[in-house]
Amino acid sequence: MIHISLLTGLLVFISSAHGTTFQIPPAIQNGSSTAQFTSSAFGIDAPKVSPINASSFDWWYFDVVSNEPTSNLASVVITFFTSSQPAFPLLSPSDSVLSAYIWVTFPNGTLWSGIANGEENATVTSHGDNTTGVWHGTGFSWVGSKAGYVVTIDAPEVGVTGTITFPAVAPAHYPCGPAVAGQNMEVGPQIGWANAVPDAASVVNLSIYGVELAFEGVGYHDKNWSPVPFLTSLASWYWGHGRVGPYSVVWFDFLDTSGIEHVSAFLSENGKIVSASCTPGSISVRPTGAGGANATYPPVISTPDPEGYRIVLALPPAEGISGGGEGQGTLEIDVAISLQTIRANPEYARFIGNLSTSTGLTGVALFEQFKVTA
Ligand SMILES: *[C@@H]1O[C@H](CO)[C@@H](O)[C@H](O)[C@H]1NC(C)=O
Ligand SMILES: *[C@@H]1O[C@H](CO)[C@@H](O)[C@H](O)[C@H]1NC(C)=O
Ligand SMILES: *[C@@H]1O[C@H](CO)[C@@H](O)[C@H](O)[C@H]1NC(C)=O
Ligand SMILES: *[C@@H]1O[C@H](CO)[C@@H](O)[C@H](O)[C@H]1NC(C)=O
Ligand SMILES: *[C@@H]1O[C@H](CO)[C@@H](O)[C@H](O)[C@H]1NC(C)=O
Ligand SMILES: *[C@@H]1O[C@H](CO)[C@@H](O)[C@H](O)[C@H]1NC(C)=O
Ligand SMILES: *[C@@H]1O[C@H](CO)[C@@H](O)[C@H](O)[C@H]1NC(C)=O
Ligand SMILES: *[C@@H]1O[C@H](CO)[C@@H](O)[C@H](O)[C@H]1NC(C)=O
Repeated sequence: MIHISLLTGLLVFISSAHGTTFQIPPAIQNGSSTAQFTSSAFGIDAPKVSPINASSFDWWYFDVVSNEPTSNLASVVITFFTSSQPAFPLLSPSDSVLSAYIWVTFPNGTLWSGIANGEENATVTSHGDNTTGVWHGTGFSWVGSKAGYVVTIDAPEVGVTGTITFPAVAPAHYPCGPAVAGQNMEVGPQIGWANAVPDAASVVNLSIYGVELAFEGVGYHDKNWSPVPFLTSLASWYWGHGRVGPYSVVWFDFLDTSGIEHVSAFLSENGKIVSASCTPGSISVRPTGAGGANATYPPVISTPDPEGYRIVLALPPAEGISGGGEGQGTLEIDVAISLQTIRANPEYARFIGNLSTSTGLTGVALFEQFKVTA
């Protein structure tokens, strides 16, 4: 049995025993967007906003940071946008809400990026926990399940071909807990977050204008969305992910324009969640400055970029994890910046770097900050 529904603004979806197919048109749609902020049992990676009007955004994000000592500055980030530029002003101006962005760093630290705008529909399918995404005409697509994802790029016009695999090593989660039905998906006011792959044992195999970029590393995939412009309630945000010793970690520390801090902590070991919480105090992320002194918090646009961050993650009572705790019931992780990978404007920066604990665990991370108030 197949039925076809026509939602306001032309987002057509076809549901059947084979799942749901969403066709997302390239034009900015008129009318009100509706966003989903409570999780369903399935469809973690299905579109969450419909239609994409001039105020809304919905995107799928993938990254990998190298954990090979000989190429520790290599990284790649790919984002599939269904977002209007007024809603997410960091996007380059375009008539299309559909675009695929790729940013890479080569092992020597050289930065490169490319953009493919879609003039045809994007198609996202969702069946149980499985999804596919094809941004027609761009050469960018993904296929994924609970076991992991593969991003395939065949975009000679942008100069890129190849694949990136994301075999999952940590289970999916939402801001406040595991990926089950009925979870709150708001990480900050009207900003949705679903983290399908908090950590992956990724293999990158790309050719960029004929130059090979091949490395293994710590991979990650999530999505964000909102029916209102990104900057509506944001003052600052610190987000990142990495692996330190045996632990997969994802952090979110979000300050809204009314001064309220929203956090999300995720820690897993051997594929099992140790902590997945949005309770205030479950995690704090603070910038660090020269000589280990604390850098300014909260940051404003003119605040210089920090040298790193200090993460304090509260562990559930009696969790007793091995080798990481400095104080009773906490895991304290220092983040040291190795390379800034985006430096287009002062409001946004993306970095790669190292993680360490005083007990000797080490690892790598990819992370970002927004500071958007004057
Ligand atoms: C593109 O999407 C629109 C509206 O969602 C739909 O009417 C149209 O049939 C789609 N086109 C293709 C080629 O799938
Ligand atoms: C939105 O409304 C304007 C003004 O009526 C119209 O020109 C435009 O085609 C509409 N956009 C879409 C995608 O329907
Ligand atoms: C888009 O939808 C949102 C949520 O319903 C609404 O607040 C906003 O005004 C709409 N934007 C436009 C440009 O119509
Ligand atoms: C860094 O590596 C890239 C890709 O191989 C190359 O194009 C570039 O020339 C290198 N830069 C330096 C300074 O060696
Ligand atoms: C999802 O994908 C996995 C791995 O490809 C496959 O084993 C499974 O049958 C798929 N499930 C559904 C509901 O399509
Ligand atoms: C990388 O991609 C190239 C071109 O598709 C292929 O020949 C090569 O075998 C791939 N390497 C790995 C390690 O998968
Ligand atoms: C830095 O921040 C930490 C944790 O937030 C705090 O314990 C410490 O006292 C601060 N140090 C300085 C020099 O302000
Ligand atoms: C991160 O670790 C790599 C490899 O051990 C090292 O070369 C680099 O200097 C470190 N970066 C920082 C900022 O400590």
